[in-house]
Amino acid sequence: MRSLFGRKSVADFEADVRLHGGLRRTLGKWHLTALGVGATIGAGIFATTGTAIVGDAARPGAGPAIIFSFVLTAVACGFAALCYAEFAAMVPVSGSAYTYAYAAIGEFVAWIIGWDLIIEYAVGNIGVAIAWSGYFRELLNHVGLDLPAWLATDYRSAHDAFTQLSNAAAGTVDTTTQYLASAWVGAPHVLGLPVIVNLPAVAVVAAITIILVIGIRESADANNAMVLLKVGIILFFISVGVFLIRPGNWTNPQTGGFAPNGFAGVSAAAAIIFFSYIGFDAVSTAAEETKDPGRDMPFGIIMSLLITTVLYIAISVVMTGMAPWQRLGTPEPMITALQFAHGPPALLNASRFIIALGAVIAMGSVLLVFQLGQPRIFFSMSRDGLLPPFLAKIHRRYKTPYVGTILTGVFVAVFAAFANIAEVVDLTNIGTLFAFVLVSAGVIFLRRSDPDRPRPFRVPLVPLTPLISIVACLYLMLQLPVVTWIRFAVWLVIGLVIYFAYGYRHSTLRQRAGSATANLP
Ligand code: ALA
Repeated sequence: MRSLFGRKSVADFEADVRLHGGLRRTLGKWHLTALGVGATIGAGIFATTGTAIVGDAARPGAGPAIIFSFVLTAVACGFAALCYAEFAAMVPVSGSAYTYAYAAIGEFVAWIIGWDLIIEYAVGNIGVAIAWSGYFRELLNHVGLDLPAWLATDYRSAHDAFTQLSNAAAGTVDTTTQYLASAWVGAPHVLGLPVIVNLPAVAVVAAITIILVIGIRESADANNAMVLLKVGIILFFISVGVFLIRPGNWTNPQTGGFAPNGFAGVSAAAAIIFFSYIGFDAVSTAAEETKDPGRDMPFGIIMSLLITTVLYIAISVVMTGMAPWQRLGTPEPMITALQFAHGPPALLNASRFIIALGAVIAMGSVLLVFQLGQPRIFFSMSRDGLLPPFLAKIHRRYKTPYVGTILTGVFVAVFAAFANIAEVVDLTNIGTLFAFVLVSAGVIFLRRSDPDRPRPFRVPLVPLTPLISIVACLYLMLQLPVVTWIRFAVWLVIGLVIYFAYGYRHSTLRQRAGSATANLP
């Protein structure tokens, strides 16, 4: 039991960095903020808000009260952000939550987090790729190209759209739903089953994997340009949309008023749109490259959370004001809002094109960040002996962790071909919320086990603040469907089997046990 909780000390991590050569410390507080905003704004706001507003078979929607859902989730993330900030400032080496858990709680929990982070990064990217495909299809439409729907969606979306279309009155269904329903009708059949594959989602993952294997020099300038573009697109949507608001859409008693499903709808939606906040924690992965992590990390993490929260709330105010909320339950709710808004057709059409183009680029950059992050987490875990060494293999010519990158690409692409975005987003959210719970618990643990270590940033009111973070994240987890819990449990069990079959025996920490570096409690 004791050996399961062997901790890799913060000093060990620092020694590792010295041994392997640290990264150059060039990033300041606004660079970090831009990094956070860049990693955060993507499929969550562009795609998942549709389900959050309207709901699905498993849960009620928030309606226009989605605005409160964004506030609720931001508050929960805020408490977790403070915990991330304490760790990122104190353990300024790469690896994020995995590293913190190794330092604070021990190897076993570090493994669980590392395994869990696959859900945040790789599974999350399956969702982003699917959302990307939806906006890409819209973009193709604008240039007169039409992919057959059975090559651009998934089985469940096609079936749901077909059912919706069959039950709706003529002329009341949006074009996206009509398109998706056509996949159900038009798909070829093999052995009696319709063949429905999301080809653009596979293609974008393949392209990004190739780019990452060849090697991409992440430059702060490129990221800044991307952030300006994302924020620009959102401001564009808000400034066009604000003139198209009809307050009746918020208050119509026939559609249930502002909060048609009360607090239940608001909470269920909060757990869905949590996806749109994932990424602010990615700021912590740049700790090793930050000039003054003690000061800049907390600033970057919290400021990026603040900025995205304000933008998200503004978007949801405008979107639910532009169109009746029940119409917005599509994979491209911003496009659908423009479709149902009342305004000059030329302006609406041009806006649809601009938003689709912006969304494709914005989500492309999220894909890149997470697809880049996953192999690096594999790399850290493999260096610690918890995963096989081939995952830390570096390409001789390109100097990239190519095996991990290709494996990640294949995993993401295969699931993106067939998976349903709502299911993938739910799984990503439960996994990431769980990571937040463990990081928050880690703050309390490390304050006890290593009270004297310098903490350039201290979470106020420990243990109260981390405890609030834990409760808030657990609350959001509880809003997710039972099937998501079952999938998550299965994932963790697979992880446990791999740990005991491999990581436990190969852990470098355990192999060094007995020497001064093993820090068993
Ligand atoms: N927050 C990221 C997105 O919404 C994962 O795409």
